[in-house]
Parts: sequence; C-alpha cells; structure tokens
Amino acid sequence: MRRIAIGLQPQLKRVEAVLSNGLLFSESIAGEFRRLGHRFALFCDDRVDSLIGKKWCSHLEKAGLQIDLFSFPSGEQEKNRERKAALEDLLFSQKFGKDTCMIALGGGVTTDLIGYLASTFCRGVPLVLAPTTLLGMVDAAIGGKTGVNTRFGKNLLGTFYPADKILIDSSMLSSLSPSEWTSGSAEVIKYALIRSPQLFQLLRNWNSKDMAYLDRIIHECVLIKAQVVEIDFEEKTGLRRILNFGHTIAHALELLENYELSHGEAVAIGMLVESYISVKMGHLPAAEFAQIDAMIRSFAFALVLSKEVTLEKMRDALLSDKKAAKGAVRFVQLEKIGACMSFNGEYCASVPQEILEEAISWMLAKFSGGSK
Ligand SMILES: NC(=O)c1ccc[n+]([C@@H]2O[C@H](COP(=O)([O-])OP(=O)(O)OC[C@H]3O[C@@H](n4cnc5c(N)ncnc54)[C@H](O)[C@@H]3O)[C@@H](O)[C@H]2O)c1
Repeated sequence: MRRIAIGLQPQLKRVEAVLSNGLLFSESIAGEFRRLGHRFALFCDDRVDSLIGKKWCSHLEKAGLQIDLFSFPSGEQEKNRERKAALEDLLFSQKFGKDTCMIALGGGVTTDLIGYLASTFCRGVPLVLAPTTLLGMVDAAIGGKTGVNTRFGKNLLGTFYPADKILIDSSMLSSLSPSEWTSGSAEVIKYALIRSPQLFQLLRNWNSKDMAYLDRIIHECVLIKAQVVEIDFEEKTGLRRILNFGHTIAHALELLENYELSHGEAVAIGMLVESYISVKMGHLPAAEFAQIDAMIRSFAFALVLSKEVTLEKMRDALLSDKKAAKGAVRFVQLEKIGACMSFNGEYCASVPQEILEEAISWMLAKFSGGSK
C-alpha cells in the first residue's frame, strides 16, 4: 500500500491518496473513514452501481459504517445543475446534514459532480473519492477541481474543493471499456511528456494486464499531478496550465467532431500537434518529437479525423480556447520529453499564425480521411 500526502495551498488542507490493489474490499477499509463523519452517503452512476456500488456499500455496512447508496444515470450529460439539485433534495428529505461524509465512487463525472455537491452541502462536508476509471485515478480525482456543465459550456460551475481522502484501487479497472482505457492512457502519456522522462521510459513497456506495473504507473501519475497542484492549486501561478498540454487542440477537435471523437483520441492527436508546434517554435528537438510520435502510435489509438475538421474551422474553434489572448492562441510547449517551456512562469505562449496553420495542415494530412 502506498500513501501520498498532498498539502494544498492556500487551505493547507492535507489530502491523503491511498493506493492499493484490492483496497476497496479489504478488511481494513473502514479505518480509512474514521473521524470523517457519522453518516455516510455513497454515490455512483447506475453502471458502476451494478458493477461495484451495491457490493461495496454492503461491504462498508458490514464493516460498521452507517451508509446509504444513491445512484443516478451514467454519462457526461448527468453532470449538471439539475442532477446536483435532485441529489441535494433527496439528501435533505432523508435528514442528511452537516455530519454527513460523502463518498463518490466512479469516473470523473461522478467525482466532479459529487465533489461539487459536497463543497456546497451545508457549506461543505467531508469528501472521499474512490475513482474507478483510469482517467479518474490519474487525473479527475486528484487536485480538488469539482464542477458541472451548463448549456453554455463544460465545467462552467464548480469549486476548488479537495477531498479528504482518495482511495485508489486498480483492481476496479478490470471491467473498463476500451474507450475508457484510451482516455486514461492518453492522460498518462501527457504526464510523462510534461514532467517525467522516467515515466516516458516506463511507458515503453506498457502492459495494462500487469497489475504491479499498472500500480506503479498510477502512483507516478498521482505524484506528478499532486506536485503540480501543490504549487498552483487554484490555477494562479501558471504551472497548472501544463496539465492542459494537448488539450487546446483536443478541445477544438472534440467540438468540431460533435463529441463523437473519444476524449483520449482527441488528446493523443492534440499532444502530437502541440509537440509539432514545440518543434517549429524551436524548443523541442526533432529527434524527441520522433520518439513522442512513436510512443503515441504504439498505443491503440485510432487517430482518424472526419472531414468536419478543416483548417478554417480549427482556426475558429481555437480562438474560443480559454488560453487565447488578444486574438492569438496560446499553447503549452515542450522543451524536451518530461519538461515544458516556462515563458517567465506562464507555461504557455502564443504561436505565430503561420506555425499554427502549418501544424494544423500537418495534422490534416496525417489523420484526416474518415467520413461522418
Ligand atoms: N476534476 C478534474 O480535475 C478533472 C480532470 C479530468 C477530467 N475530469 C472530468 O472527468 C469526466 C470524464 O471522466 P470519465 O472518463 O471517468 O467519465 P465517466 O465518469 O462518465 O466514466 C465513463 C464510463 O465508465 C463507466 N465506468 C466507471 N468505472 C467503471 C469500471 N470500473 N468498469 C466499467 N465501467 C466503468 C461509467 O459508468 C461511465 O459510463 C469529464 O466530465 C471531465 O470533465 C475532471
């Protein structure tokens, strides 16, 4: 079992991530909830409910927790204000109050939604996250960002509200769909590119069936994200921006593909394009780009764009990116595998239009071809 203490400024809240294969159904699991509440509310989506939720709830009940289970339909569309309000009403009607500890079991949708719920319920109650997707374990459950989508955009409402505990049990991943593995593994590659040449080396032998290997990879990723958010918890100093590497292009692609392109595929293409930009800007050596290209291609990403993605539409979509400033799109850029350019601590910088267009044209030549 590995324990990672994450000290977050400015709250100085101590968050503990516990990583262990078999953790959730272990004999000692009740100990992780000690002093967090008198009454526990466990939340998951209906898919996770049938796979893990009911069984885990009864395991925790047998271990002595006073616990109730609440489930809701699965899917990104459930991460909204209406679902949050419905859960709040349900909790109040069942007399849950300030002494409640909320537990979110599931992927990033559940941890974001329930994190937000916990942050406002009775002005904030203790929160435990038990991520069950790879993306949830290495990314969504770490770093304290919570939120819901609105019809005006993704994650527009939310809070910075770190969980008290994050319980990471890699044995939960055995039932994950291929597309969920893709989403998670794209983020794993991202951590290697932005912060860890050692992780990049480890990824050369990627084997998601080897649990000891997978645990080591998850541990490395949690450490990297924890280090970044410890320095820049509320996205104020700029370092947290490096977590967006590959995502500026990915968000534009997802939008143009009407969210039919999986997040993992979009991030994989996004990392290639943003690495290409880093080469053209004179930061990343071409030989390192070749290694990144080979690494991303060694994973089972489809990497095919439909005819909806054109140079013109990409230009428009990129200008609505939140990092765009004064009409120029800004990108996180790599200095080498495992390090980003600092740009005086900003960690992103604008890119001349010709280089951006050259990079998009390169992407279209490589990955375009699918029809919608
Ligand atoms: N807060 C953050 O810092 C942060 C970071 C990255 C992503 N996110 C958010 O995370 C969300 C995406 O997360 P996600 O991909 O985990 O989505 P998700 O929560 O919708 O899970 C994807 C699907 O996998 C299913 N699932 C979950 N665990 C499973 C398991 N063990 N076996 C089989 N199926 C399982 C779920 O029921 C769901 O259908 C997005 O809303 C994104 O905005 C948040």
